[in-house]
Amino acid sequence: MTAIIDKIKDLKTKRNAVILAHNYQRGEVQDIADFTGDSLGLSQQAAKTKADVIVFCGVHFMAETASILCPDKLVLLPDEHAGCPMANMITLKQLKIKKKEHPNAKVVCYVNSTAAIKAESDVCCTSSNAMKIVSSIPKEHEILFVPDKSLGGYVSSKLNRPMILWEGYCPTHHRILAEHIVKLKAAHPEARIVVHPECTPDVTALADHVASTTGIAKYCKETNVREFIIGTEIGILHRLRKENPQKVFYAITQLADCSNMKLISLEKVLWSLEDMVYQVNVPDDIAVKARLAIQKMLDLS
Ligand code: 13P
Ligand code: SF4
Repeated sequence: MTAIIDKIKDLKTKRNAVILAHNYQRGEVQDIADFTGDSLGLSQQAAKTKADVIVFCGVHFMAETASILCPDKLVLLPDEHAGCPMANMITLKQLKIKKKEHPNAKVVCYVNSTAAIKAESDVCCTSSNAMKIVSSIPKEHEILFVPDKSLGGYVSSKLNRPMILWEGYCPTHHRILAEHIVKLKAAHPEARIVVHPECTPDVTALADHVASTTGIAKYCKETNVREFIIGTEIGILHRLRKENPQKVFYAITQLADCSNMKLISLEKVLWSLEDMVYQVNVPDDIAVKARLAIQKMLDLS
């Protein structure tokens, strides 16, 4: 492993590359990254990097977002098959039909979506700023929230703001069940329950805190409690345990494992830098429109 890590470091310098990794990545991938974070943090890092090459250890929509924000940089996704099933739950044709049905609606699109969907939306959001973004839209407008019905439903109930919700969802987060939490809480009554808003409403209703992945890491670090029950993709446990060696973390279920996120390995990061693959490009006409929706989000964040 050390040999691979050394080679990655050498090539990174040679190519003037930066490695960005999502909080769900394999532990060893998180450990070699220059920055590990949530979707918002990663796009902010991409937007401000001085590197020529961005190696994106995450899924396709994240690399695409980086490419939209940095059209002059080379964005590499170490496995071209690392997609997000939720992002594929809405097509451009479907969105256009829905927009025609609701001509007064503003489209808020979760960043877990394709560039084409972003281009057809008014503003993007991530799980960490969704409340702020939705709140910024004047009350006289209807809101069409795509594609995550769970995040949309959570924001809608918190803000008491009705929204038209697309029927998409994250299959990984929907494997986390309320009954799992009830059992764990009975075994560890002192533990705080912390979950991601991609979970179902009966799961978020049981939580002490609901946040993005970086929000979860921040809460666990700052809260003076020893035990936490974690309801999100299990890759985050690596960061939580590393940052809080004195605390105990229980995954609600080991089934919350996103196989797409785990497609990226150290070897693939190395091959990516060796062969400069797989380049993620967004056609100009789509990128220009998608950038407006992403930039609006970054300005409001
Ligand atoms: P965040 O890291 O922005 O909370 O996103 C979670 C997620 O599902 C990314 O695929
Ligand atoms: Fe998509 Fe869910 Fe995997 Fe995130 S965890 S990449 S939303 S399938």
